[in-house]
Amino acid sequence: MGINSSISRDFIRLENILIIGNGGRENSLAWAIQKNALVKKVYLIPGNAGSERINKCERIKIDINNKNELVEKLDFYKIDLVVIGPEIPLANGLADFLREKHFKVFGPNKDGARLEFSKSWAKEFMQDANIPTANFWKVNSLGEAKKIINSSTIPLVVKADGLASGKGVFIPNSKEECCKAAEAIFNGRFGNSGNVVVLEEKIQGPEVSVFALCDGKRYTLLPTAQDHKRLNEKDKGPNTGGMGAYSPAPLLTEDYLDRIIKEIIEPTINELNKRNINYRGVIYFGLMITKSGPKVIEYNCRFGDPECQTIMPLMDQNFVFLLEKCSMGSLTGDEKMNASDKVSGCVIATSKGYPYKYETGYQIKIGKIDSKDCQIFDSGTSLSESGKLLTAGGRVLSIVCQDKDFDTVFEKAYKNLKEIHFEGIYYRNDIGHQVRKNFTTGN
Ligand code: AMP
Ligand code: GLY
Repeated sequence: MGINSSISRDFIRLENILIIGNGGRENSLAWAIQKNALVKKVYLIPGNAGSERINKCERIKIDINNKNELVEKLDFYKIDLVVIGPEIPLANGLADFLREKHFKVFGPNKDGARLEFSKSWAKEFMQDANIPTANFWKVNSLGEAKKIINSSTIPLVVKADGLASGKGVFIPNSKEECCKAAEAIFNGRFGNSGNVVVLEEKIQGPEVSVFALCDGKRYTLLPTAQDHKRLNEKDKGPNTGGMGAYSPAPLLTEDYLDRIIKEIIEPTINELNKRNINYRGVIYFGLMITKSGPKVIEYNCRFGDPECQTIMPLMDQNFVFLLEKCSMGSLTGDEKMNASDKVSGCVIATSKGYPYKYETGYQIKIGKIDSKDCQIFDSGTSLSESGKLLTAGGRVLSIVCQDKDFDTVFEKAYKNLKEIHFEGIYYRNDIGHQVRKNFTTGN
């Protein structure tokens, strides 16, 4: 099984790969990339304490903002392909810079990253291309926002325009709360990211994540996924970066995915082309399946976390070829993503207090793990001087399993979680509840 054989090699060197980023997402990318026998080494800047447990992986300690040193290191390590994980370096133009220096890069230039780093730009982009999304108003002042909120006959959500580490979206329950959210944003809660506010019609429905690998003109889709954004069971509590995921999302039947391709994915690629944006990286479509059809909630210019950890184990050794083809603009467009027959699920273990204030530095103890078709990707860990594994983030570990069905997948994941201990460990027990036949909510 795997990506079908239409992915042929043209014997370009692919020995040394560099991944930029420090999360579970980047570790899972490294894990999938190293499967390819041509790949000799996978470097991570900066990676985390789990990176070097992955075959062929090594961390490089440098500041990516020191551009001269970065280029020196890339030359020194003879890097053949750079994969940029997080949105911030993409929004800061790191891909543009490395391309100017003639490196092959997977990750869009700054013009493409705008899909994520300016919500108002993305909304106007969708409006121009007739891509279904919630109605919106772009506002530049609190007075303007209040006028729209007070005269609105529909519930609204309030968003900071720029990057806000996933915290810039408010889902208020009243006009008063709406105004307070707009005020907080205009008062500088997110710095310059809140110079503009987007008010959006509140829409309803299950959310799914669709990932298109793009080479500037063509694209190929990864297996779909569903994330669990809320902190607590029964999808309650505050929004987080993601508490777990599963892939593929059975909600997206082949027919429905075809509809998404026609109404959303192809118009997005066409609009990028129309604007001369040579997008070479992944487009993450955050979609809501509403009664009137699929709508885009947001675009991201990077892989989702934890969707990436969930999807990567379904990839075979050809995955790195796809990234390389995107970087070179040489997808044929007929690559069939014939991923594993298995399904995959991921549960995130977090520090107590996440997504707000939490403590770090607690020792992580891992007992007897079932490692067959199970992975533990470190999300936020560090090593003590004596080599002990410590918690170092809100999201600490991603526990991922694959099997023939979701019940078995999550049974294995939760069995492994029982073997993992650190002070204040918290995780949801109902990840994948939508697809687990044996799951009952206890009501
Ligand atoms: P975002 O950071 O844009 O993905 O938004 C975070 C979460 O807020 C989404 O995953 C949705 O659950 C919710 N959300 C965003 N926009 C809307 C909307 N227009 N209507 C309802 N919920 C939304
Ligand atoms: N899982 C949601 C995100 O990566 O933004």
